[in-house]
Amino acid sequence: MKGSRRSFVNVLLGTSFGALLGSILYPIAKFLLPPKTVEAQPGSVVAGTVGEFKPNSGKIIKFGTKPVIVLETPGGEIRAFSAVCTHLGCTVQYREDLGHIWCACHNGHYDLNGINIAGPPPRPLPPFDVKIKDDKVFVSRRVLAAADRMRKKWLGSWFASKKT
Ligand code: FES
Repeated sequence: MKGSRRSFVNVLLGTSFGALLGSILYPIAKFLLPPKTVEAQPGSVVAGTVGEFKPNSGKIIKFGTKPVIVLETPGGEIRAFSAVCTHLGCTVQYREDLGHIWCACHNGHYDLNGINIAGPPPRPLPPFDVKIKDDKVFVSRRVLAAADRMRKKWLGSWFASKKT
């Protein structure tokens, strides 16, 4: 009788200690190993109708959580680029007086192909695909060919090594 009571108390203490240890370690483990969150990005968004754009103008739209600049060149071609400046991440804008993309933060300039032409931006703005269907302007993420992905990856690591 005495032995079984002792073993019962031992089991009770053992499981209580295990539960206490688990309740302490589990939150710590969850804090140290945060779950992987995948940011949902839409495949394509409607930037507006063709009639909303006029030559030598641009506007910022939301592509998921990121801004995208959609512009119409003086020649009437609609193009889209990431609106996140490659210098320090400010949102760029279209300057009708300059006829190209401009970043107000540190006077960065990009041409109508998104190429950095003046100021501190180190890289071009990533382009987006533009398709017009039923009078609507669709903007979608550009799918890179394998060679382009390798070049982008290599350039990214090269630029990163130049910053340090
Ligand atoms: S953040 Fe755009 S030029 Fe510096």
